[in-house]
Amino acid sequence: MNIVVGITGGIAAYKAVGVVRALVLAGHSVQVVATDAALRFVGKPTLEAISRNPVYTDLYEGVAEVRHVAIGQAAELIIVAPATANFIAQLAGGFAADLLGNTILASRAPLVIAPAMHTEMWQNPATVANIATLRERGIHVVGPAIGQLTGKDSGPGRMSEPDDIVAAALAVVAPAAEPGDLDGRQIVITAGGTREPLDPVRFIGNRSSGKQGIALAVAAAARGAEVTLIGANLEVDAPAHVTVEHVGTTLELAEATHVAAATADVVIMAAAVADYRPDTVAEGKIRKETQGDTLQLNLVRNPDILHDLSAARRPGQVIIGFAAETETDPAELLLIARAKIARKGCDYLVLNNVGWTTGFATDLNTVTILNATGDIVGEATGSKTTVADRILDVLSVRS
Ligand code: C5P
Repeated sequence: MNIVVGITGGIAAYKAVGVVRALVLAGHSVQVVATDAALRFVGKPTLEAISRNPVYTDLYEGVAEVRHVAIGQAAELIIVAPATANFIAQLAGGFAADLLGNTILASRAPLVIAPAMHTEMWQNPATVANIATLRERGIHVVGPAIGQLTGKDSGPGRMSEPDDIVAAALAVVAPAAEPGDLDGRQIVITAGGTREPLDPVRFIGNRSSGKQGIALAVAAAARGAEVTLIGANLEVDAPAHVTVEHVGTTLELAEATHVAAATADVVIMAAAVADYRPDTVAEGKIRKETQGDTLQLNLVRNPDILHDLSAARRPGQVIIGFAAETETDPAELLLIARAKIARKGCDYLVLNNVGWTTGFATDLNTVTILNATGDIVGEATGSKTTVADRILDVLSVRS
């Protein structure tokens, strides 16, 4: 594949060498387009040696071959790593002041960017708004990771590791899975997040948008399955060609899922389910005038739907659970996941990291799939569609 790697001027530019190298070793033809600022951080000879191609920077070189658009037109994938706050702002504004800007504007290829900057810059409202604009345009944003930054500080803003960027970028252009391998299988998928009302206007909820569950429903239907999607407060439109049942609370989700599971071959519990609900729901709005300075809520446990479905599963029925965890240490995360599988009794568990900026409501996801004995049987990074297909591959292999 013809891949353009854009490098902009941040300290993390040295890590772009790892991105270029991984792509070249995977057999891709890589054209580096660096900004002038990028070349202050990493040497042109290094990039030329690693990419095995000349490195272009200047808008006014190669004019005869119309280089400012030719590179973008020939690209099948563009990756910008690192993407600085300044570059992200230029991209959001559609500016083409340099060769990289021209290359991107002249290209119809998927664009993947790996932001790198200090936490304050990443969280600055200008950057937040620019990233939202880019995501709306279908640009894929990988990371940034949370960790040690260039100075003594640490936090969100560190560029994702080169291998993660490469995996996410290649997943964006990965061919769709073979359709038809789930022909006729009845699959129930829960999506979204349950909400537990406190009074007629307020609820306790979570930040799940339902995107991953919907991606699973779309992918399963494309592969021939008969899908029932049970959506809890979905924040995005459910697909028109899939049967959707909308629910609000955990008890409603439990009821709908148990009914649908009675005839299903597979149940995938992608919904984020509230573990507790208020023991009473106030008939009228709870008012601070009558409550005073503190408000005591009494919460009671909700049923664990995944556990109960697994305990009641029919012979041959496959139950897949999700574990959205904030633990960042990979070894610790695996321990948590393995304990969860044992507790829930499901056949597979899809483990993903969630946090303030990862997992929920984004278009990208990174998951590890474990089987009932806690062995890793799959891993995926990329769009939620790509991740959905990797999860469904587990079913395909089993059938
Ligand atoms: O226990 P935890 O919430 O981490 O487990 C997550 C998995 O369990 C998800 O698959 C979720 O859909 C499911 N779950 C459930 N019922 C609950 C809580 C979680 O089915 N009450």
